[in-house]
Amino acid sequence: MSAPPARPPVDLSANENPLGPSPKALAALAAAMGGLHRYPDRACTRLKAALALRLGVSARQIAIGNGSCEVLDLAVRGLIAPGEKVILGTPGFPAYRGAVRRAGGQAVLVPARDYRDDLTAMLGQIDSRTRLLVLGNPGNPTGTLIGRTALLAFLDRLPAGVTLILDEAYRDFVADASLPDAVDLLQAGRPVVALRSFSKVHGLAGLRVGYAVATPDLIARMQAEHQQFNTNTLAQAAALAALEDEAHVAATIELNRRGREELFAGLAARGFDPVPSQANFVLVRVGDGAGLVLRLAAQGVLVKELGRYGLDDHIRVSCGRAPDHARFFAALDAVWPPRGGNGWNTRRGTHLALDGDLFSANKRY
Ligand SMILES: Cc1ncc(COP(=O)(O)O)c(C=O)c1O
Repeated sequence: MSAPPARPPVDLSANENPLGPSPKALAALAAAMGGLHRYPDRACTRLKAALALRLGVSARQIAIGNGSCEVLDLAVRGLIAPGEKVILGTPGFPAYRGAVRRAGGQAVLVPARDYRDDLTAMLGQIDSRTRLLVLGNPGNPTGTLIGRTALLAFLDRLPAGVTLILDEAYRDFVADASLPDAVDLLQAGRPVVALRSFSKVHGLAGLRVGYAVATPDLIARMQAEHQQFNTNTLAQAAALAALEDEAHVAATIELNRRGREELFAGLAARGFDPVPSQANFVLVRVGDGAGLVLRLAAQGVLVKELGRYGLDDHIRVSCGRAPDHARFFAALDAVWPPRGGNGWNTRRGTHLALDGDLFSANKRY
């Protein structure tokens, strides 16, 4: 008798879209397949034009790349010279540290206070070698927000020649009306680069499309640095269709709103103290984060271990659908509280063999 097939794991580790890609994007992909013997439009003309129209900027203010990870790398390289300083809040999205290192810069890490970027401490670190600061709004992995008033006061205090990257990968999920708009700030003459992604609300993480909105001068420098054809034909076609698929975006936002409430309430009911989130994930302190991640993975539920974010004692759980949350809470109830001794044996970044499947319990995001 053969064993019943193992259920695929529930993946709540990478802040992906539980609804999947936009159906319009899938149709656009199918339609674009026949043209794959042609090189892509290296200028991303149609996608840039659509974004420019939507955002009220010129196409010369937009750089598109292989996910916002490539774009943030280009922006850092375009903004700093070797030896210059970049101020980053911690915990924060770790890709910025790599980008600063590759640009030959020096990252200055400023700890958050109560899960919020400490704007005063960040300003206090600025010296004559500082060219750039980065803020996630909302931030990953905290999910917290910097409101318009606080951000404007912060920008007022930036010395001339210092730029702020506002990473808005999660902005579509924000319910708080005080959310500032990085593109509006840029258009009002503030020294801001807006960074956005098609990986989250548009559900296209696997195709890798992200973009920056900045001054034409910076965009020209960024584009001079990247390879030709950094955004392939399928990625351009799908992103263009996903941008127009407002129903999918609205359904994603609504599902996320409910999912976020459900995760928060379920964790709070179990005695945890989750961080109120404006994004598509919830951060929660658990003690031994890596240990809990491994235990949950053994139950077929993947959540994010945060050692690379400097938060060993937390996990991050992405919002999913209700059945995903039911499996997450069932797994949590099976392994929590940790029994025996003072916690679990942990091996960070471990690959687990589960039910014959090999998958990573420590996906990058
Ligand atoms: C804050 C932040 N910025 C950028 C990214 C990168 O997104 P992309 O998939 O567009 O490279 C992520 C991915 O999780 C993120 O959390």
